[in-house]
Amino acid sequence: MKIALASDHAGYELKEAIKEYLTEHEIIDFGTGSTEPMDYPDTGFKAAEAVAKGDCERGILICGSGLGMSIVANKVKGIRAALCHSVELARLSRQHNDANILILQGRFMSKYLAKDIIKIWLSTEFSEGRHINRINKIKKYERKPQD
Ligand code: RB5
Repeated sequence: MKIALASDHAGYELKEAIKEYLTEHEIIDFGTGSTEPMDYPDTGFKAAEAVAKGDCERGILICGSGLGMSIVANKVKGIRAALCHSVELARLSRQHNDANILILQGRFMSKYLAKDIIKIWLSTEFSEGRHINRINKIKKYERKPQD
């Protein structure tokens, strides 16, 4: 799978640990490249757009709390980004929400939990069924002309 990866400074160390873990996948790293303070929208929008355009199948975005990257990613049309701090949420975000971006917390999550979450998130399929209609309503809203 081709995966877009991005973080800010607060997510940098977890991003690097994830890169070492995801050796069976093609990783496109949109930065950041160090723990030097920077602004999460600068890397988050680039990675989210790569997923929205289809250049990457999925994305994993990390900031300190996960909140900033969640806001950024969900601004991009076609993105369904899910902030998951447990394996169960990761599973549900795929089964019910067909999330195409996973958001992780650099300051509130161990790399071991992050790896468990990623493993489930990448291997769980969308359940379809009753959930398709709900996703279609989100897609329809995205097509609505904005003021
Ligand atoms: C950086 O200090 C922090 O604000 C950022 O990583 C993130 O948590 C924002 O939502």
